[in-house]
Amino acid sequence: MDGRDLVRAVKDIGSERGRRAWRAAWRHRRADAVGLPRRGAERARVPGLLTGTESRPGGGVLRFARSELLVRVMAGGAVFWGWDGAGPTPSYAVVGDGPEPDPRAALEPDTGGGWRVVSERVTVAVSRHGAVEVRTPGGTVLRREAPPRWWEPVPLAGEAAVGAGSASGGTHPTGGAAGAGPGAVGSGGRGSGGGRWVQRSEVAADARFFGLGGRAAGPRLRDGAYRLWNTDPKGGFGPGVDPLYLTMPVQMVVADAGTHLVFHDNSWDGRVVLREGEEGAGSGADRPGTSELRMEGGPLRCWVLVGTPARVLQGWSGLTGAAAVPPEWALGYQHARWGFGSAAEVRRVVEGYASRGLALSAVHLDIDHYDGHRVFTVDEEAFPDLPGLAGELRERGVRLVSIVDPAVKAGDAVHASGLAVGAAGAFVRDARGEEVRGEVWPGECAYPDFTDPAVREWWGGLYEERLAQGFAGFWHDMNEPVSFAPFGDATLPRSARHAMDGAGGDHREGHNVYALGMARAGWEGLVRLRPAERPFLFSRSGWAGMQRYGGTWSGDVETSWEGLRASLALVLGLGLCGVPYSGPDVGGFGGSPSPELYVRWLQLGSYLPLFRTHSAIWAGRREPWEFGPEVARQAAEVMAERERLRPYFVTLAHLARRTGAPYVRPLWWGATEDRRLRDCEDAFLLGDALLVAPVLECGADRRAVRLPRGRWYDTATGAAYEGPGQILLDAPQGRIPVLARAGSLLPVRAASGGGVELEVWAPARGRTGGGVVIRDPGPGFEAGTVERYTVRWAGDEVVVETETGAPVSGVTVRGL
Ligand code: NOJ
Repeated sequence: MDGRDLVRAVKDIGSERGRRAWRAAWRHRRADAVGLPRRGAERARVPGLLTGTESRPGGGVLRFARSELLVRVMAGGAVFWGWDGAGPTPSYAVVGDGPEPDPRAALEPDTGGGWRVVSERVTVAVSRHGAVEVRTPGGTVLRREAPPRWWEPVPLAGEAAVGAGSASGGTHPTGGAAGAGPGAVGSGGRGSGGGRWVQRSEVAADARFFGLGGRAAGPRLRDGAYRLWNTDPKGGFGPGVDPLYLTMPVQMVVADAGTHLVFHDNSWDGRVVLREGEEGAGSGADRPGTSELRMEGGPLRCWVLVGTPARVLQGWSGLTGAAAVPPEWALGYQHARWGFGSAAEVRRVVEGYASRGLALSAVHLDIDHYDGHRVFTVDEEAFPDLPGLAGELRERGVRLVSIVDPAVKAGDAVHASGLAVGAAGAFVRDARGEEVRGEVWPGECAYPDFTDPAVREWWGGLYEERLAQGFAGFWHDMNEPVSFAPFGDATLPRSARHAMDGAGGDHREGHNVYALGMARAGWEGLVRLRPAERPFLFSRSGWAGMQRYGGTWSGDVETSWEGLRASLALVLGLGLCGVPYSGPDVGGFGGSPSPELYVRWLQLGSYLPLFRTHSAIWAGRREPWEFGPEVARQAAEVMAERERLRPYFVTLAHLARRTGAPYVRPLWWGATEDRRLRDCEDAFLLGDALLVAPVLECGADRRAVRLPRGRWYDTATGAAYEGPGQILLDAPQGRIPVLARAGSLLPVRAASGGGVELEVWAPARGRTGGGVVIRDPGPGFEAGTVERYTVRWAGDEVVVETETGAPVSGVTVRGL
């Protein structure tokens, strides 16, 4: 127990919930004392020298004295390698069987006694000691992984079977057929599952790191340690807090020589230590950047994708699944509140927006609408006719969204129905077979095991009750998962057992994929229940591949200017990990923002995919009119502009699904060679057309904006600027700088009638432009049609044409 724990513990003991949390934390500690393998003597292992090779499709197997390495280059250019027999599947991240091996890629001798696989886009070279290099076709090294090192338990006499994998013996999803490799010492039959390992890597001296899931300190990940363990930071967070709810072992690395994404497919607890390199360090030689990944167990297997950021994310979405497209209404402004308290208050707030002509798309009900905080129930006194309320709101164009917590109150009806699932019930059990109980909002709770397909199916069916109540969308919360704890880790015991889709395993491996399983259960259940509608689902926690089932949000970001900055960092970082739909609690979760901070947050939020105000039960108001008439007027402009841009957000949502490109992109997206853009963290691109420069500092009324190459128009004044370079723009409290790329085309809502019209920003003279539009195909799963347009000068006019050269009329041309 550290100092922080101690303070927390003393505070908690005063309340009934606190006392229950104490008991739960002690129970968890005791469960781990008996349920976790003892950490005894360990033996270190490195691969040793290369002893032989065997060709396989797309590459081959390299045998070392104490391990073996499978290297495979896939069609499309993704590279996989796995040690100790680990293969690409089964995996919680990778869809299906993963991509096919590239039939043209083959293992061949390299210099220095090593071997390599050469493909069109990338070369992977393995040294005779087991170092792995990823090179560009031109031979530049993008990443060099040193030979890994494992630490494995030395079996005590008579105790050979004790180890992390001893109770499972399966092969899903973390291990491939590990143990087959010559070095699978002490692995208990499940690959490296019983051994810790470390992998050190080097990247170029000029490289910058991004990703690792949602990090408040990003988007550029500076020198430091980043833990891979989904965690509720409790009490809100600012930039200094790490880890947060949604971690993933995915790094995007951007350097002069090229961009690559690396994914270590392993859900165990781990830690990444990053150190940026330095050019001309010491005696003039470059010091490379380094990344050191330490995992507590699980397979050592890795994917690398190389190319432009757009190409890399296209590959990533091919590998881990296309992003769910939110329904059109989920791209409008949404209002959430913990503590509406009653249907009357919901009506009052909705009326407040309507009477001021402010567009409101959805209202989110938090745990206070539950009966006794129990999931899948309704407080009938406070919300006597929820379906009626939902219908009434629907008439006004407002959807209802429900929070869904995973923890089920012990002894209630949902718990009873879960106990009937399969032979052992739906809930996570400890190593002795007892149901694990934790403490959450409703009191003592059990936790569905979402790594069990039967449990996912049962859970998905429970959304029928929510749909019957009139809810149109779902907000998964507390799914790291949380069990309140005055000390120790506020989650399930590490020894708690999980089905792991047939392989069996414990919470050390199941923790980080818990929310991913919950998202899958919810998504699949909703698709079964309402096959004609794509679900709206977003989740606080998750893992690689979660975009298949929906998006996420910031969680409890603190109400401060630092919290505002962290909001942008999170959205950018998550987009680079393949999760394109997210956004913050506008105004911050826990406090009362000043009018200025509130407006700045609203301005930023209005250009992010999930545009939602939300706040804690103890926090100040978030309705725009609560901040005085000037703020109300400014907020109205912000919200009207979001409405105008809604068709553009629809296009971006569909493009994210088709291409993997996030709506919100760092400034270096199309210009990775511009190093200053890599370090620019206070602005972003919204699709191809817009550059948004939010104000993130108190008191600022102008700001510097760094421009990528090309011409950019200030959308407020129409003034044109030439990039690359930096400009200074006015940013009075009423607006933030938004620039449009010359030649871009975007769909916007027509001022009259609400239809879609095209807005074009004039290309520079002698240049052309264009863009794509995908209109909302409706609430189902239709992909929508891609309309492609070109923009060019014809004499003194800018003309827009379809793909077939047909002229398009009624276009607003700006920047002339
Ligand atoms: C924690 C979530 O992060 C927050 O958004 C929510 O309001 C509370 N739980 C209460 O449900």
